[in-house]
Amino acid sequence: VQTLTVLGLESSCDDTAAAVVRQTEGGQAEILSSIVHGQTELHSAFGGVVPEIAARAHAEKLDICVVQALDAAGLTLRDMDAVAVTAGPGLIGGVMSGVMCAKGLCAATGLPLVGVNHLAGHALTPRLTDGIAFPYLMLLVSGGHCQYLIARGPEDFIRLGGTIDDAPGEAFDKTARLLGLPQPGGPSVESEARSGDPKRFRFPRPLLDRPGCDLSFSGLKTALMRMRDQIASEKGGLTRQDRADLCAGFQRAIVDTLAEKTRRAVAVYLTEAPAEPVIAVAGGVAANTAIRTALETVCTELGAKFTAPPLSLCTDNAAMIAFAGMERYRNGARDGLDLTARPRWPL
Ligand code: KG4
Ligand code: ZN
Repeated sequence: VQTLTVLGLESSCDDTAAAVVRQTEGGQAEILSSIVHGQTELHSAFGGVVPEIAARAHAEKLDICVVQALDAAGLTLRDMDAVAVTAGPGLIGGVMSGVMCAKGLCAATGLPLVGVNHLAGHALTPRLTDGIAFPYLMLLVSGGHCQYLIARGPEDFIRLGGTIDDAPGEAFDKTARLLGLPQPGGPSVESEARSGDPKRFRFPRPLLDRPGCDLSFSGLKTALMRMRDQIASEKGGLTRQDRADLCAGFQRAIVDTLAEKTRRAVAVYLTEAPAEPVIAVAGGVAANTAIRTALETVCTELGAKFTAPPLSLCTDNAAMIAFAGMERYRNGARDGLDLTARPRWPL
């Protein structure tokens, strides 16, 4: 039985992270440490992630993260079997910082280097947390990603569809901005929606009339802006109730769209004849109770098991990168010091 211990690095967006994951062959993986340094306060004044600021912060924080992750695991580089690093997709300056750091560690120690696709990291997380067997259906919903994948193996994914414009988290964030609610928009819109009437405003259900699993969310923001401006011009401003009703209508449109597209994705997935059908969701938007409940209902209807990793592993972290790297490593994958950072890298 070969036990592997892998150091993982993540720096593709606005979190600098390092983690150590260990797994006996055939056994359940264990997260020995997972350190995440967020950059939210560095970017908050700019209303979004500033790539140059992100890259500098990653370069400054990566080595500290590595030391902290090793210390927290009670191990040293000598105890590692490989170094895994996010090699894309993401903001190129950040990805390069991570890749350079990992190459330095490997050049100095002789450890093997494994480049990891960030999306594969998210998509393999249900195996890290629950040991879910292939093939399973994955819905990735965050501020930056939105796609349906069938995971068939560590490096074998079928993309069934995804957003053609905004990711749902982005739509929540923009809605919050349009209504003067605090960022991140997801939690604030969800909380307003609780006291709102989802039927008062009729939001579109984009792409439901077209076959397939592609999604579109940018039209919701345009619709919301129109409704908001109309109320404001009729009444001189928005009441608390207007705002709650707009949030509820907007959220219901997202919930309905995701539920219907998930039904379609499950139908395709079931043609793979999985022994135990599993539908997993990951990404920051998976924190939304209305969305989770709707997805759970769809799964129950269709006889599939629903699973969602704990939130700390749904959002960006390095444990998922260490684990995905370990899965690739077990598959025989090795990268050289010529590994390149890829800003775009579809699964
Ligand atoms: O996965 P994540 O932390 O970062 C990436 O985008 O990679 O996701 C953050 C996104 C933000 O857009 C945030 O508004 C959204 O997830 N989010 C939510 C909720 N909590 C966080 N969206 C809807 N409902 C929530 N409760
Ligand atoms: Zn991510």
